[in-house]
Amino acid sequence: MGIQRIAVLGSGQMGNGIAQVAACAGYDVVMIDIQQEFLDKGLASIENSLARVVKKDRMTEEQANAAIAQITTSIDKAAAADADLVVEAIPEIPELKFSTFAELDQICKPEAILASNTSSISINAIADATNRPERVIGMHFMNPVPVMKLVEIINGRDTTPEVTALVVEASECMGKVPLACNDSPGFVSNRILCPMINEAILALQEGVAEPEAIDGIMKLGMNHPIGPLALADLIGLDTILHIMNVLHEGFNGDPKYAPSQLLQDMVAEGKFGRKSGSGFYIYS
Ligand code: CAA
Repeated sequence: MGIQRIAVLGSGQMGNGIAQVAACAGYDVVMIDIQQEFLDKGLASIENSLARVVKKDRMTEEQANAAIAQITTSIDKAAAADADLVVEAIPEIPELKFSTFAELDQICKPEAILASNTSSISINAIADATNRPERVIGMHFMNPVPVMKLVEIINGRDTTPEVTALVVEASECMGKVPLACNDSPGFVSNRILCPMINEAILALQEGVAEPEAIDGIMKLGMNHPIGPLALADLIGLDTILHIMNVLHEGFNGDPKYAPSQLLQDMVAEGKFGRKSGSGFYIYS
């Protein structure tokens, strides 16, 4: 029997997007968070996102309502007990991930697959917090989840080919293109993306060009959908800084991964990008 029931842990930007694409694929979904208020906000995001899809005539209102009906919510992790696949999308705090996976390992049935949507924490380290490292895997969705095609699949040291195959199949059912890599700092996506963004911030810091010009050059010259500074605002500057620190430490202090001073200063000032209302641009 393949995957039928999916638990998504975390109802933030990534978690609610994952719950949405899983529900649209017909899976039974339970979205779990620590407060009902967070779950209500997550459900409202899903409703808004599906309304956009309906408006574009890519889905009927009945289909959108049916997808929403596939999602239940809970503030108790025990709701993941009968899930075949758990996708964790909680904050990027290593100790929190490790304790959560240790807990999920106790709660979930032995054959359940425990996946992490982590963008930077080692899958091997997460797997080591459980007694089922062979059933732990990285399932890294991209933001905004309903739109972006990729799921970066990260195989840990012990992940079995059977687990990878099941997760690849589930990702494809969700309309995504899964591409696999091995556990390594930043995996593939963030090892390449975040140094590029950091370099754009360095160009700004050194007065090479204004933000609009840096972004315009990359959009018009390289066909990027948005420029690196606007993308940093979308991802969150705190997240970019965190990932640069993971790369810097993970590659033994190699200076090519050192986070720029401007990035560090902006995060210290609470300029996180879209989510805080200001970053390289102002958001109202
Ligand atoms: N739900 C449903 N549909 C959505 C949506 C959502 N949340 N957000 C956007 N869309 C749809 C829009 O309806 C629109 O559809 P049409 O093409 O049919 O008109 C389409 O997506 C484009 O949206 P917009 O017109 O509003 O805006 P845009 O053209 O600027 O596109 C974008 C928005 C798709 C986000 C685009 O800017 C983009 O591709 N940006 C780059 C995103 C990216 O690189 N993401 C990866 C970040 S890295 C990451 O996530 C990993 C990590 O670990 C840090």
